[in-house]
Amino acid sequence: MKLHKTFLAAAAFAAGMTLHAQNASNLLIQTNKIGAEVQPTMYGLFFEDINYAADGGLYAELVKNRSFEFPQNLMGWNTYGNVVLMNDGPFDQNPHYVRLGNAGHNHKHTGLENEGFFGIGVKEGDEYRFSVWARGKNQKIRVELIKNNTMEEGQAFVAEDLNINSDEWKQYELTFTSPRTEPKARLRIFLETPGTVDLEHISLFPVDTYNGHKNGLRKDLAQALAETNPGVFRFPGGCIVEGTDLDTRYDWKKSVGPVENRPLNENRWHYTFKHRFFPDYYQSYGLGFYEYFLLSEEMGAEPLPIVSCGLSCQFQNEGEHTHVAVCDLDGYVQDALDLIEFANGDVNTTWGKVRADMGHPAPFNLKYIGVGNEQWGPEYPEHLVPFVTAIRKAYPDMLIIGSSGPDSEGKQFDYLWPEMKNIKVDLVDEHFYRPESWFLSQGNRYDNYDRKGPKVFAGEYACHGKGKKYNHFNAALLEAAFMTGIERNADIVTMATYAPLFAHVEGWQWRPDMIWFDNLNSVRTCSYYVQQLYSHNKGTNVVPLTMNKKPVSGQEGQNGLFASAVWDAPTNMYIVKVVNTSDQPQPVSLNFAGMKKNTKLANGVLITLSADHPDLENTIENPNLITPQETAVMIDGNVLETEIAPNTFALYKFSKETNS
Ligand code: AHR
Repeated sequence: MKLHKTFLAAAAFAAGMTLHAQNASNLLIQTNKIGAEVQPTMYGLFFEDINYAADGGLYAELVKNRSFEFPQNLMGWNTYGNVVLMNDGPFDQNPHYVRLGNAGHNHKHTGLENEGFFGIGVKEGDEYRFSVWARGKNQKIRVELIKNNTMEEGQAFVAEDLNINSDEWKQYELTFTSPRTEPKARLRIFLETPGTVDLEHISLFPVDTYNGHKNGLRKDLAQALAETNPGVFRFPGGCIVEGTDLDTRYDWKKSVGPVENRPLNENRWHYTFKHRFFPDYYQSYGLGFYEYFLLSEEMGAEPLPIVSCGLSCQFQNEGEHTHVAVCDLDGYVQDALDLIEFANGDVNTTWGKVRADMGHPAPFNLKYIGVGNEQWGPEYPEHLVPFVTAIRKAYPDMLIIGSSGPDSEGKQFDYLWPEMKNIKVDLVDEHFYRPESWFLSQGNRYDNYDRKGPKVFAGEYACHGKGKKYNHFNAALLEAAFMTGIERNADIVTMATYAPLFAHVEGWQWRPDMIWFDNLNSVRTCSYYVQQLYSHNKGTNVVPLTMNKKPVSGQEGQNGLFASAVWDAPTNMYIVKVVNTSDQPQPVSLNFAGMKKNTKLANGVLITLSADHPDLENTIENPNLITPQETAVMIDGNVLETEIAPNTFALYKFSKETNS
């Protein structure tokens, strides 16, 4: 554990008090003015299948193109011997499968091999479940894991036989324990008998998924999400909600029901950036809306689905985007209403029954729905109105989120906010991927927002620092600084979600991101820790914190400091967040004013996030370089004289105790 500079010498600390008091920034915390509620939804997560976040990431399936439905049907597969692609399989939305026949000679082999997502990662001692839909009488296949780019070329380190015993399509399963750790294995299947066998939906999952679900999530990644205690979980994006064209928008109805029959969709991130082109990036929808709702529930987060408003991605189409005429929007509006029924409807409703049949008869208690992602121009409000009208009529309590477009300010933003007020959406989604200077200047962004209009959902944001490449510490520090302004304005900002969430180190398209991973490991970035610290310490109410009667938001004369304070009723605690964005140590007095005579502050804790250099970052190789450090802190009376190290996020907690 790192020792914060403040605590280096208790004696020197006392001697230096007078000098300290003269130079210190005096932060006044008015403990007796318990203010606006901090909503439980305040700090949450934004999920989009970008950077292989779903297939190849959070969705624990290890086989790519398991249903042979990629446009090049055998993409990701090598075949040997007598393999024929067929298209009259048992699943109407995924009709392709492969037929393995005799290779023609005793010594020839028929089989196929899957490359996985950047290889198949397996861990020594972990159990894996192979499953396949198959047809064939008295046939046998061998299922292998191989690593064939080493001296052990072609040698299987897992080899299991599976008997196929029916002319009817049936699902077969086998589990095995991997004898070794291998980040880039391949799955090989051989036909072992002289006849014919048909194979479809070839799948390999770790048995130990998050909460043990069969069609489950990669445990370390889901765990990292859950450990932020998210208040809200937004899905499925992002631009993929919109689609490059409307046919490829995220159609939630295709993402539910039996996983074998969920049709493939393209993923626009496969071709969005030519320099990061991933021709094998598709959406299997194996991680679909049921799984998103379930994950939200298991993490204790409010689910927040975003639906298409009938406008495809305006970025991708450079002004010529396709859209459904407003008069033809009925199907899209019905999709939104049906989604609410899927989440909340009784098991006797059409869509409530689909949910129940999938294993969740109880409703998911959906309270929020977003309509459209980063839409802009007059088409957006025109398209939004029919959704708002229909949802209000059918579900008057549903909270509806509209968009303020792709920018944090400017023409579209200025146009859309008043439109959103007129339409009376409940929250407006704001997006800001902005440089350091923006984050430094926006500490007071929400101080003068109209309190009578919709609330704010800061739905996508991240500091895109130098070179826009890294998750370096400085970007996270400035996010922490900016977030004090969100917290101080919790009466108007009720949700905030960093974005994007995940990135595969080999398959990313967009950075920075909150969590990076490869096939076996994951790393929590400094931005992750900032989000986590806020979320774990959001408190229940804002408490005024000022310096010279002004909010501490990095303004001139405030020494690069940003600060906010909250009260946490269940734990009886004051929590103060101070961010020193300057490269100088800052002497600070935390003055807890308004405490009653019979109360005192106790059990002080300081958590700091700091780095030896602002450009450092956590990496797969060195995941714990920068992590929050916790120490006890003593307070003498109601004033803490301290010093905050340069470039440091400091979070103080004191419980309020009543003297006996
Ligand atoms: O987070 C990446 C992208 O940024 C999202 O898909 C989109 O909404 C925004 O432009």
